[in-house]
Amino acid sequence: MLLEVHDIHVHYGKIAALKGISLQVDEGEIVTLIGANGAGKTTTLKTVSGLRPLTSGSIRFQGRDISKVAGHKRVVMGIGHAPEGRGIFPGMTVQENLLMGAYARKDDATKELDEVYDLFPRLAERKQQFGGTMSGGEQQMLTIGRALMTNPKVLLLDEPSMGLAPLLIKQIFEIITTINQRGTTVLLVEQNAQQALQIAHRAYVMETGTITKTAPAQDLLHDPAVRAAYLGGDLGIH
Ligand SMILES: Nc1ncnc2c1ncn2[C@@H]1O[C@H](COP(=O)(O)OP(=O)(O)OP(=O)(O)O)[C@@H](O)[C@H]1O
Ligand SMILES: [Mg+2]
Repeated sequence: MLLEVHDIHVHYGKIAALKGISLQVDEGEIVTLIGANGAGKTTTLKTVSGLRPLTSGSIRFQGRDISKVAGHKRVVMGIGHAPEGRGIFPGMTVQENLLMGAYARKDDATKELDEVYDLFPRLAERKQQFGGTMSGGEQQMLTIGRALMTNPKVLLLDEPSMGLAPLLIKQIFEIITTINQRGTTVLLVEQNAQQALQIAHRAYVMETGTITKTAPAQDLLHDPAVRAAYLGGDLGIH
């Protein structure tokens, strides 16, 4: 197992955001985490990447307990995180933003840069444009591209489709599939459950800090309770 999260509890002050989350991600998989606003999805990703500390429980990556390893070391180990709400550097160019993503690597990042420009031709066209003047969708691509610059073994994606127009949403999900087919394992958090379940192998459903269900993604697409809660109850699968 590439990533094993075991019974983690995470607090913000006295408030328990995660109340015993366990999940596994195997090498090569796309695993999606779906759930309502405030369920704890972002907190789960932040805890895996080391941005939030654990109160209890453990996180293992490639068999090693990383619960107490600093976030920047987890990046070097192969955990890439494209956070919610983008967080690019507005006053730096697209290319500078991408190179910032590679800061943790000691060697030359030309190969990764070429791969990111291949995945996102729009970024290649706008290398010298300031990050802050890129459109919302373009900034979303830049966030994902920056996380790919460390050549991660697992890519944590927090709502990559948020705020995008339908055509761009479709493209982003296709790109996530391509990233996975090129060998990167993906842990995907999405409000857009329909599309996430269509590209994922397995899924976990989160409710208020706990996991309430886990199943192959295709099964959840047809699960009446999941459809009612997260897929608008619409049975028209496309
Ligand atoms: N910095 C913080 N300080 C205090 N409480 C927080 C903080 N960040 C998150 N929380 C709380 O922790 C809980 C989980 O939040 P989290 O952001 O992980 O949810 P989420 O599932 O990602 O939601 P969304 O779908 O809205 O992005 C929420 O109740 C939230 O209010
Ligand atoms: Mg969130």
